[in-house]
Amino acid sequence: MNERRPLVVGNWKMELSHKGEAEAAASLVKQLKTESQEAEIVICPSFVSLAEVADVLSKSEKVALGAQDVFWEEKGAYTGEVSVMQLRGVVSWCIVGHSERRRLAAETDEQVTRKAALLMKYGISPIVCVGESAQEREAGETVARLTQQVKVLLAEMPLSALTKIVVAYEPIWAIGTGVTPEMAEMAEAMLMIRKLASERYGREGAEKMQVIYGGSVNASNAREIASEPGVDGVLVGGASVRPMEFVRIIREVIGR
Ligand code: PGA
Repeated sequence: MNERRPLVVGNWKMELSHKGEAEAAASLVKQLKTESQEAEIVICPSFVSLAEVADVLSKSEKVALGAQDVFWEEKGAYTGEVSVMQLRGVVSWCIVGHSERRRLAAETDEQVTRKAALLMKYGISPIVCVGESAQEREAGETVARLTQQVKVLLAEMPLSALTKIVVAYEPIWAIGTGVTPEMAEMAEAMLMIRKLASERYGREGAEKMQVIYGGSVNASNAREIASEPGVDGVLVGGASVRPMEFVRIIREVIGR
């Protein structure tokens, strides 16, 4: 599992201005100039800043660009949505199924799966977020919820997709709260996600899939989280918009 290069993704959400996103990207490029490429680093600014941030990142090979979402149809009369065809050639990654989208836009597991499949079709790697709510956790439904989300996703995916698709385990109650699960609880959920892949594709296939953790990751806890077996990296929200802290997180994840 851990021969895969660790992945560190920054989800900038709606935290910065257009100018602020370009500045944060430039700062990151500058700070990472002399870093080794032990981790795969992805930043996901807002749609409006993608072109400008892409321009900033073109001066560096260290940071890749991702989008925060995509629509589930390729084309058509969908005012305000962004299609995979518009992202193609601009980003190489895209987050889908973030709990904030599932909650605010009532996205279903099926819609999230359609998005992931479309991204794969266009050569963009999907980072698919799954996770249980606080209520589901209290009711002992974590396993059932994760199983549902992952099974719907994998039902549509050929084995070859597993080298491109990333599953991000993000317990909803840990997002933006400063609270993280106990390491054992986190590892158990993430191993379970891989086990579901293993049931469908066999052990070898499942080993190809990257499973990362998200939810209140910061420079103080990134090392412990990333060193858990079965954790291939982190998805960082709040702490990723501060370039210095994000760089510290990257260093913690690669163990320096
Ligand atoms: P957080 O967000 O790091 O601010 O908790 C993570 C996420 O929503 O992806």
